[in-house]
Amino acid sequence: MNKTSTKLQSENVYITYPLKNGGEVTAVEDFNLTVEEGEFVCIVGPSGCGKSTVLGAVAGFHDISYGSLYLDGKEITGAGRDRGVVFQDASLFPWRTALGNIIYGLEVAGVPKSERQKKGDELLELVGLNSFGSHYPNQLSGGMQQRVNVARALAIEPSLMLLDEPFGALDAQTREFMQLELLRIWKATKQTILFVTHDIAEAVYLSDHVVVMTARPGKLLEKVKIDLPRPRPLEIKRSKEFTEYEKYIWDLIVTEKQKNVV
Ligand SMILES: Nc1ncnc2c1ncn2[C@@H]1O[C@H](COP(=O)(O)OP(=O)(O)OP(=O)(O)O)[C@@H](O)[C@H]1O
Ligand SMILES: [Mg+2]
Repeated sequence: MNKTSTKLQSENVYITYPLKNGGEVTAVEDFNLTVEEGEFVCIVGPSGCGKSTVLGAVAGFHDISYGSLYLDGKEITGAGRDRGVVFQDASLFPWRTALGNIIYGLEVAGVPKSERQKKGDELLELVGLNSFGSHYPNQLSGGMQQRVNVARALAIEPSLMLLDEPFGALDAQTREFMQLELLRIWKATKQTILFVTHDIAEAVYLSDHVVVMTARPGKLLEKVKIDLPRPRPLEIKRSKEFTEYEKYIWDLIVTEKQKNVV
C-alpha cells in the first residue's frame, strides 16, 4: 500500500485586504484544506471568491490574518524556493532564451554552469521543447511560453507547484493539449500540484480532488473526489461519468453565485 503524507495543510485561514477608507474586506474565511503528497488538486469557485488569494497566501506573497498554513509540516511565513509558481501570463524575460529563462532560478541559486545546462536540457525535453532552447519568448507560441514557464518553476525542484489559471490566455485547442501535457509532466515528476481555474471541465479532467469555494468570503464549500481512471485521454471528457462530475460542480457554483444576486 502507498503511504501518503500531508504536503499542505490550511487550518482556519482568514485573509483580509485593507480598504482605502481604513476598513478591510475579508476575502477568505475559515479556509480548511489538506493536500496529500503527489496529489493534483484544483480550486474552483465563483469569480472573486478568493481562489488567487488562497494560492497567493500559500506562495507566501501575502500574509494571512488568522489561522495557519503548513507546507511539509512547517509553517509558511513567506515566499520560498520550495514553491514553484506559474501564473496566467508567462511573464518570461524577453531578453533571455527559453533555456535562459528555465535556468534563471538555478543561476540565482549559484548552481554551477554545467549542472544547470544539464538540468535545463532535461527540462526542455520534459516539456517537449528540445529544439527550442535557443528561441526567445517572442519566437514562441503562447502554449510554448507556458511550457517554458512550467519548466522554469520545476527547475528549482519545488516541494509544491502552484498554478493560477496557467492556460487561461490560450485558445481552446492549445489549452486542452496543455492539460494533457501537464498530466504527463505531473506523472513524470511526481509533483504535488495546487491549480486554480474557473474552468470546471479543466478541473475535473486534471484533479484527484476538486475544491469548490463559496462566494466571497471564500470558504471550502465541498471537496469533490474525482474517481476517474488515469491516464486520462482527452476523450474522457465526453464520458457520462465526466459530465456528471461537471454538472455536479457546476450546480454547486451556480447555487453559490445566486446567493450574491439581490
Ligand atoms: N489587493 C486587493 N485589495 C483589496 N481587495 C482585494 C485585493 N485582491 C483581491 N481582493 C478582493 O478579494 C476577493 C478575492 O479575490 P481573488 O482575486 O482571490 O478572487 P478569485 O477567486 O481569484 O477571482 P477570479 O476568478 O476573478 O480570478 C475579491 O472579492 C477581490 O475584490
Ligand atoms: Mg483569480
